[in-house]
Amino acid sequence: MNTIKNIGVFTSGGDSPGMNAAIRAVVRTGLYYNLQVTGIMRGYDGMINGEFIPMERKSVANIIQRGGTILKTARSEEFRTKEGREKAYQQLKKQNIDALVAIGGDGTFTGANIFIDEFHIPVIGLPGTIDNDLVGTDYTIGYDTAINTVVEAVDKIRDTAESHDRLFIVEVMGRDSGLIALRSGIGTGAESILIPETKTDINALLARLEKGRKDKSSKIIIVAEGDDAGGAFEIATIVKGKFPAIDTRISILGHIQRGGAPSCMDRVLASRLGVAAVESLIAGKKGEMIGVVNNNIHFTPFANAIKHIADVNAELLKIVDILSL
Ligand code: F6P
Repeated sequence: MNTIKNIGVFTSGGDSPGMNAAIRAVVRTGLYYNLQVTGIMRGYDGMINGEFIPMERKSVANIIQRGGTILKTARSEEFRTKEGREKAYQQLKKQNIDALVAIGGDGTFTGANIFIDEFHIPVIGLPGTIDNDLVGTDYTIGYDTAINTVVEAVDKIRDTAESHDRLFIVEVMGRDSGLIALRSGIGTGAESILIPETKTDINALLARLEKGRKDKSSKIIIVAEGDDAGGAFEIATIVKGKFPAIDTRISILGHIQRGGAPSCMDRVLASRLGVAAVESLIAGKKGEMIGVVNNNIHFTPFANAIKHIADVNAELLKIVDILSL
C-alpha cells in the first residue's frame, strides 16, 4: 500500500539539458497519482534552508524545451556534514515531504545514500549530468544534447581549420570521463581522441600526426578535460615542440556544453525516467537510480551507480582506430 503523500523533487550538481523535462515528468506523474509534489530550490542547500515551492501542473508548463533547471542547482558543502543533513531532514519533516526524487550525478547520489541511511527517507535518483559517467544507464539526461553541442562547435572549427590548414586541439568536458570526447570525436571525424579511460601514448599521437601530415590539410584532436596526458594546453605544447611548422590552435569549449535546449532524445529519456521515478516510489522502492539499459527501464542501487567509471564501449574505441588518421 502506498504511504507516500508528498514528493520533493530537486536538481543538484552541475546542470544538464533535460533536467526541466525530468522535473516536469515528476510533477505531472505525482499529480496524476493524486500526490502532492514540492519543488526544492538549489539542491541540498535549498533543502537545508527550507526553500520549498508547491508544484502544480502549470508550474511546469512550457519548460520541456528549456535548458538549465527551473529549480536551480548547487553543489552543497553543508550537506556533507551531519548537522547539515539533520537540518535538511527537519525541514522536510516540517513540510510533510515523505519521499524525494534527486536529479543529478554521482555527488548527488552519494549524499542521498547517506541521507537514506541516517533518516530512512525514500529517495529515488535520476541520472542528470552531461558526463554520462554513471553505471546503470546507457545514457544520462543531458549527454545527448551535450555531444550534439560539441559536434556543432567542432564542425565550425573544422571549417576554419580547413581554410587555414591548421591543427586544432579541442578540449571537451566530462570530468574523469572521456565519453563526451569519444562520441563527439567519432561524430566529427576527429583525427585523434584522447580520453582518460585509455592511457594516452604521446609518442603514438605524434607518429600519427607525422603520418597524416601530407594527407589532410586540417586536423582535429579532441581531448577530454580529464585525460592523463593533460588538457589542450599541455598537448599543444608537446605538438608545437615536435612540429613547429604545424599551425596549431587551441579551443576549450567549456560551459556551452551544459546549456541549450535539450535534444528530443534527452526530453524523451527525462520523461520516461520521471514517470518511472514516481511510480517506483509509490511501489516502495528507495536508494536506487533509474536508468535505461537496452531501451528498458533499469534500477541500480546508488552505491553501484557511482562506484565505477562507466565502461568504454570497445567497439567505439576500435572505430576510432580504424577511421582516424
Ligand atoms: O559534471 C558536469 C561538469 O560539467 C563536468 O563535465 C565538469 O568537469 C564540471 O561539471 C564543471 O563544473 P563547474 O560548472 O562547477 O565548473
